[in-house]
Amino acid sequence: MAYDIRSLRLAKKIRQHDLAQSLHMSPHELKIVERGFIMPNTDILERAAQFFQVSIDLLTAAHYQLGRTTPAGEGYVTAIPEADFVLPRRSVPALDKPAIVDLFCGVGGFSHGFELTGYFQATLGVDLLPDRAHTFAHNHQAATVFCGDIQRLSLETIAAATPMPYILLGSPPCQGFSSLRPFRTLREKDPRNTLFEYFALAVAAFQPEWFVLENVVGLLTHEKGKTFKTMLDLLAETGYSIDWRVLNAAAYGVPQRRERLIVIGSRQRRTFVWQDPTHYLDERFRSMAGKKYAPMTSLPLFRQALPPAISVMEAIHDLPDIAAGEMSHRYADDIPMTDYEKRMRGTETQLTLHDATAHTPNMLNIIRHAGYNRSALPPGLTTSGFSTTYSRLEPDLPAVTLTVNFVHPASNKCIHPCQDRALTPREGARLQSFEDKYQFIGTRSQIVKQIGNAVPPLLGKAVAEMIASQI
Ligand SMILES: C[S@@+](CC[C@H](N)C(=O)[O-])C[C@H]1O[C@@H](n2cnc3c(N)ncnc32)[C@H](O)[C@@H]1O
Repeated sequence: MAYDIRSLRLAKKIRQHDLAQSLHMSPHELKIVERGFIMPNTDILERAAQFFQVSIDLLTAAHYQLGRTTPAGEGYVTAIPEADFVLPRRSVPALDKPAIVDLFCGVGGFSHGFELTGYFQATLGVDLLPDRAHTFAHNHQAATVFCGDIQRLSLETIAAATPMPYILLGSPPCQGFSSLRPFRTLREKDPRNTLFEYFALAVAAFQPEWFVLENVVGLLTHEKGKTFKTMLDLLAETGYSIDWRVLNAAAYGVPQRRERLIVIGSRQRRTFVWQDPTHYLDERFRSMAGKKYAPMTSLPLFRQALPPAISVMEAIHDLPDIAAGEMSHRYADDIPMTDYEKRMRGTETQLTLHDATAHTPNMLNIIRHAGYNRSALPPGLTTSGFSTTYSRLEPDLPAVTLTVNFVHPASNKCIHPCQDRALTPREGARLQSFEDKYQFIGTRSQIVKQIGNAVPPLLGKAVAEMIASQI
């Protein structure tokens, strides 16, 4: 059965004109909604769901699908829309909170971290993937979300949909941006513009107080450093003062040694003060770039006075033991929680996303033999893979960087420290510092990718606090 408004209307033999009246919209509006030319806003979806007595999620999904397959003809002009669909904000942004516009927003780990300070509020997000857009919208009710290729979206459309951004956040994928195109300058509507250039143009157009660009550390060495240098040169054209560091999430309270390059720009050309880590992480676990470009408490004595970085088991040991292929919806109540676990669990009473991959008998055999790196396996058990594949996480250390495939043991070190299975999506979310109440929307495999691709919220919070302290 189809759940779009037109199909539901025809099934009930209701005239278009009459339905339009019941949904408080004009017949013309209903016509274009029914044909999928625009995504109905939340009010219309709610009224239609109530009218037809169907779930709003089914209606939303049907209209999203309709938008992608809209037929041409019958007098309609089919221009390529700027976005595949738009999810309107569900609440009015608070006037007293500086607005964040998050380009390449993903599920919003970065924005969520900023919101955790209680100071900032996301008012707009853009992402290419529908599941990311829905998850972002669900967790950032004051944000309008555009789903589609950002390069089709005009800066004017963004500007019209949000209060003036105070902070522009962005994690633009940098594929395609190479230093090989010489003499680049920031020019709008250049068809050769890359996603990074879109971000830089948005900074120039919106003039936020601050911009924050997040990326992988590999960008520093790409093309022997030329790519990053070209990017900094382009960003400098905006007139902002710019500074950057490599931050390790484990040094800011995330149970994961995930390093990210953070570039910050100030419109008022303030000198940015990077704050020292809040947790101690042994030098052994920092990459070369992390050692060289990270803010650090200067004296080793002070460093060691910090609480140690949060370990894997301190983050997940309150979750019930389950075997491969099993799931559980109940928290283990008899286990005393660590402070981190209390923070993550909050007031949730029902456990979600704690379902383990059903491994094949062959994989279970590998897992049973697995140690902290691949060389722990008896010879011949696996044929290929890096040294950290088919390996267990160390229980007493923060996790290694989570990948987008952490429910499969062939991925980087993602077997549970003491149970014979890969991590569950819930365990992955904990290691990324998403509280249990953060809702992920999509299929299980989409959700795993959503979690693995995100900026850990507590890392976002640390960056947000650095900015807030300078306002
Ligand atoms: C590293 S992720 C962002 C993570 C996000 N900052 C977070 O904290 O959850 C990069 C995102 O860019 C999105 N993306 C890639 N190409 C895009 C495009 N052309 N237009 C819009 N979004 C795009 C991807 O779908 C992905 O979600």
